[in-house]
Amino acid sequence: MRIDKYLCELNKGTRKEVKEYIKKGQIRVNGNIVKDPGYKVDENNDTVEFINEILTYNKFVYYMLNKPAGVVSATEDKHDKTVIDLIKPEDMRPGLFPVGRLDKDTVGLLLISNDGELAHNLLSPTKHVDKTYFVKVKGALKQEHVEMFRQGLQLSDFITKPAILEIVSTGEQSSAKVTIKEGKFHQVKRMFAKIGTEVVYLERIQMANLKLDEHLLQGEYRALRNDELSKLLD
Ligand code: URA
Repeated sequence: MRIDKYLCELNKGTRKEVKEYIKKGQIRVNGNIVKDPGYKVDENNDTVEFINEILTYNKFVYYMLNKPAGVVSATEDKHDKTVIDLIKPEDMRPGLFPVGRLDKDTVGLLLISNDGELAHNLLSPTKHVDKTYFVKVKGALKQEHVEMFRQGLQLSDFITKPAILEIVSTGEQSSAKVTIKEGKFHQVKRMFAKIGTEVVYLERIQMANLKLDEHLLQGEYRALRNDELSKLLD
């Protein structure tokens, strides 16, 4: 890969800026100053130094975000702040996108990446990846609802696959964990509406085998650890 492209992909500046750094002799490859922006670097084997910092090239990045309410799961939006706006300039990469969607008022686990294949594997309807939500609803939750979720609910456009409902508390306001296999528009809210309740709080706490890190405050994110990533890529 060209050294100027390499530096841009690592977010070291615009193409114009990195060309300047290169011409000024601020880049070394395997210890030697490189002054040609078109120099071909082997991103997996060469040691690249940028103003005395040794760079590591990761083509893909994977961030676990604890999405706050009020931001949309999109890369850009005319009216609202997006989840990509929460990424700090130093962590930005070309092509970052949210892996799936949470409603504007839903909080919790959202992966942000530039790896389209991972996104496909997690989101493809044929893969039936489990997603678990913690939910608070207006209205009582009963054992019969557990059975209804298990059997599948007829929504306006499809019948849900067997879902696991675990009631945490019940009363005028109830709380539960629910695990679903699809990810259709407003699915969890529609499932609870179907049984006569109303979702007032929705938080995704797990996707596949990836659990939301409880140390992340809403709006915060961190890179996935290697063990988390390798389990996800399995
Ligand atoms: N189901 C919903 O209704 N909303 C979400 O944001 C996610 C799942």
